[in-house]
Amino acid sequence: SGPEVAALVASRVVDVPDFPKPGIVFKDLMPLFSDGPVFRRMIDGIVAYHGADSFDVVAGVEARGFVIAAAMAYATGKGVVPVRKAGKLPRRTHSASYELEYGEATLEVHEDAFVAGQRVLVVDDVLATGGTAGAALELVERAGGIVSGFTVLMELSFLEGRRRLAPRTVHALLTV
Ligand code: PRP
Repeated sequence: SGPEVAALVASRVVDVPDFPKPGIVFKDLMPLFSDGPVFRRMIDGIVAYHGADSFDVVAGVEARGFVIAAAMAYATGKGVVPVRKAGKLPRRTHSASYELEYGEATLEVHEDAFVAGQRVLVVDDVLATGGTAGAALELVERAGGIVSGFTVLMELSFLEGRRRLAPRTVHALLTV
């Protein structure tokens, strides 16, 4: 159930102070990924929340979003599309820049990543300021996809990413 998965995420997250910069507390969710049964429950929890019929393809945001997206896509028989950091994709791309909690970054998606009208579930590990998510969702739409949902494992509500993404909705397994 939702509360069970939330408790699981809460019990495994490791706070890493001053990473990648002084003053930032990094939320390391890798212990959730490295435990097989926990990883499966987490992935199944996201799929159950959205319903496998609600999306045609999963888009994962570099880098930890790739792992989540691939598992969800495999579990549901869908494809997976990467939303990448600048300069990594080999063909023509759409790109969007955004402010990060600790710097600036650019994301890219191949122009032909989606079939027009394809429903795209976008996933990442953490929602902090929402800059990354905002850029990712914008890119999916510019590439012809229809955003069917956006899910993160953990939302840091004090950074107000959800408000920044409004009127889009965010699903988080755990909100702290
Ligand atoms: C982290 C996290 C999200 C983003 C959230 O990625 O995985 O993608 O920050 O922050 P925001 O809501 O303030 O934009 P990071 O930049 O560390 O990249 P990585 O996954 O490639 O290490």
